[in-house]
Amino acid sequence: MNIERLTNWFRHLPTHIVLILLCALWLVPTLGLLVTSLRPVQAVNVTGWWTVLSPPIGSSEYAQQCSTCHGEEGDAIPDADLTDPEVVGDYPRSTQLLAMLEKEIDGQPHLEDNPLPDAQQAANIAVYLKRISGIDAPPRFTANNYIDALMGYRGKRTYLEDCATGEQALDLNCNISDLLNPRGMGRAMLNSLLVTIPATILPILFAAFAAYSFAWLDFRGRQFLFALLVGLQVVPLQMTLIPISRLYAQLGLNGTFWGVWLFHTGFGMPYAIYLMRNFLGSLPRDLFESAYLDGASHWTAFTRLAIPLATPAIASLAIFQFLWVWNDLLVALVFLGGTTPVLTYQISNMVTSLGAGWHLLTAAAFLSFLLPMIVFFALQRFFVRGMLAGAVKG
Ligand code: HEC
Repeated sequence: MNIERLTNWFRHLPTHIVLILLCALWLVPTLGLLVTSLRPVQAVNVTGWWTVLSPPIGSSEYAQQCSTCHGEEGDAIPDADLTDPEVVGDYPRSTQLLAMLEKEIDGQPHLEDNPLPDAQQAANIAVYLKRISGIDAPPRFTANNYIDALMGYRGKRTYLEDCATGEQALDLNCNISDLLNPRGMGRAMLNSLLVTIPATILPILFAAFAAYSFAWLDFRGRQFLFALLVGLQVVPLQMTLIPISRLYAQLGLNGTFWGVWLFHTGFGMPYAIYLMRNFLGSLPRDLFESAYLDGASHWTAFTRLAIPLATPAIASLAIFQFLWVWNDLLVALVFLGGTTPVLTYQISNMVTSLGAGWHLLTAAAFLSFLLPMIVFFALQRFFVRGMLAGAVKG
């Protein structure tokens, strides 16, 4: 019995190792993104996210060369309290600090027997002194990146600090209305929702009608139409961008929500119809026939039988379509552009051409996948069932 268990365990070991490695491969960068998004910009610019839990820069040099006299906390000598910004403020640069350390105190070298720190050590110590004296001590973690990304703020310092001193960039009001400023992720999120919700509901609604008729109505050319529809799925989206945008220009739909809704509806429908037809077609024929015998119209059969039974398929379609539209950049860029920026568009704006601002990018990325995560976890029990939708034909 025990040996059986052991061999079983060994047989599954490679699978488990591969699974753990795969998880790590995905989770480590995501964790890095999360940690970075929560760090202050000063820290993001000089050290990697994996250093968050290591001791602050210069603390080891300080402990070696200065703490014997100045104490662990830096406040052991009352005349030279290193936690006092006025004392440390006299030596903002490491060269000034070195020059001071070279001077003698009461005829003795400042450091007595210790050697003078070299340039790099002095620089680190200078950083450390600034930190303990509170001159320049960004907190370890901050929510400022999220606030700045939501507000779309790019200033000398963070949105909150600049608003507190009244030095904010001109077109911001420093109140909740800034969330709707067109350069921020807050507004972009709203736009993305306005694009995504109708673009998810519309194709599934139409596809449900079409799937029902393909499955349970008898009309001429049904097989042919269905085959055509399945075949249509191979048309690449990119190929249709130019013709459709010319058509939209004539209809005045460029730059409107209607334009994207219609486009996503058109491209979402073939697959949705295909999946739902297979799902509805696999329901027992007797069910529908007895309903018709009892005098049910097609409408009753559709609303009372087909739709409730197809819930898993509809839910999985909804997830797929939602994620696809939410993550889409191309269609939104072509038909909405910068006038009505969506999340994906705005994220790409967070980093400037010189690479500045990627602390904002990390926060923006997390904001953008918050909602898909919620949707996914809320609907995931349908997801597994729905993936099998239409897979087994009865
Ligand atoms: C041997 C003891 C000793 C060591 C080691 C030492 N200090 Fe000092 N330090 C002193 C004393 C004593 C004073 C006070 C001098 C005075 O009263 O003017 C002082 C003063 C200072 C001041 C204040 C100068 C001012 O403008 O008043 C700074 C800054 C300082 N030390 C930095 C350092 C740093 C950085 C190190 C480590 C690299 C260090 N000290 C190591 C003894 C020490």
